[in-house]
Amino acid sequence: MQVARVAELSRYEGEEVRIQGWLYNRRSSGKIAFLIVRDGSGFVQAVAVSNELDPETFKLCISIPQESSVVVDGRVRQDARAAGGYELLLTGIQLVSAAEEYPITLKEHGVDFLLDHRHLWIRGPRQHAALMVRHEVIAAAEGWLRSNGFIKVDAPILTPAACEGTSTLFETDYFGEKAYLSQSGQLYAEAAAMAFGRVYVFGPTFRAEKSKTRRHLIEFWMIEPEMAYADQEENMAVQEEFVSHIVRTCLENRRVELTLLGRDLSKLEAVKPPFPRITYDEAVEMLREQGFEFTWGDDFGAPHEVAICSGFDRPVFVTEYPTEAKAFYMQPKEGRPEVVKCADLLAPEGYGEIIGGSERIHDLALLEQRMEEHKLPRDSYAWYLDLRRYGSVPHSGFGLGIERTVAWITGSEHIREMIPFPRLLNRIYP
Ligand code: 4AD
Ligand code: MG
Repeated sequence: MQVARVAELSRYEGEEVRIQGWLYNRRSSGKIAFLIVRDGSGFVQAVAVSNELDPETFKLCISIPQESSVVVDGRVRQDARAAGGYELLLTGIQLVSAAEEYPITLKEHGVDFLLDHRHLWIRGPRQHAALMVRHEVIAAAEGWLRSNGFIKVDAPILTPAACEGTSTLFETDYFGEKAYLSQSGQLYAEAAAMAFGRVYVFGPTFRAEKSKTRRHLIEFWMIEPEMAYADQEENMAVQEEFVSHIVRTCLENRRVELTLLGRDLSKLEAVKPPFPRITYDEAVEMLREQGFEFTWGDDFGAPHEVAICSGFDRPVFVTEYPTEAKAFYMQPKEGRPEVVKCADLLAPEGYGEIIGGSERIHDLALLEQRMEEHKLPRDSYAWYLDLRRYGSVPHSGFGLGIERTVAWITGSEHIREMIPFPRLLNRIYP
């Protein structure tokens, strides 16, 4: 018997195939049973008709417990109502392992219960769909970078110094020395850009943020391209191509999943370059016009970001933030040192910042001065300063948060379901 994957059933129309998977759900009424079988690639309905099967087989069909592992044989037929477009007319079934009473029933559960059972929850259709989109986002991002000449250079996770401020560091002991979990691979990406020109780092990053919001994870994944000889204009041009490619690829390859999640696809279809650009100053003006009291120099919070994006149908670059609100390494604007050459990219529909990026300071003296102002220990950054000593060039880069991007593309309310095993404030289980 031909073993097939649910996602590829269209190749087997009219044929009999074998699906190796698990029983997700069952409805039965007398002489007919509808088994929803999942195999990892998707979900398919297998229809078991009593008078077309031997009694043993039909009995199995109506008695196998939820989430048991099963091997199902059936004939593939088109069904316009099915999510994937196909269903199976069941011809045989084998029970591989009978499941005990499954804790996640098909009724509603509280979110704490579901998070405690995250190792099982990821089997469900919505979780599965969101994580398939995550997979697609990562593949599309890496694919685009690869075909545009970016070399992947991994950065260490255990680091001697902060990149994004000292207040959110996870400290650990490194054979008697202090070490920190990486907040960003950027500083290493900068070193690599001087060796390879266009590079990216991709890995888990850690922020000990005591914030419990829908948009913050303690551990999240970030993809960080860095380009030698690129200014902030080029940086933004790359970002809008990059993000548009990611969205387009999800629309092409994950339509089934996005539809299952109820995503309004027309909103995603609008995501094309160029993305609008507004300065921080203009954004502050907009906020004040909308009745916000806002002090110049402050960073935007979630309600501000929502208000700023409200008039736009695609991501918006907010540029030239106050120097005091941003990280130590950002290049000041010529003739106006109180703002830096940076941009945050805010996703539409209230999803907020998905990218932070900037041109980097390439002048040694200025970088040293900034590090002093930020009270950063010189010794830990000696190697980083070397990059400004030996062939320094203007360079720029950015970091895209994977889970924030997936939350936006899938139209999900909460970032915690955009990563297989979220680390949240006060949650490290499972
Ligand atoms: O703006 P951030 O802090 O920028 C950096 O880390 C730079 N070093 C990147 C660079 O230029 N190479 O973070 C970048 C992105 C944010 O826009 C957001 O998408 C995501 O990382 N992010 C988070 N995602 C989930 N939970 C958190 N706590 C996050 N903090 C940042
Ligand atoms: Mg940021």
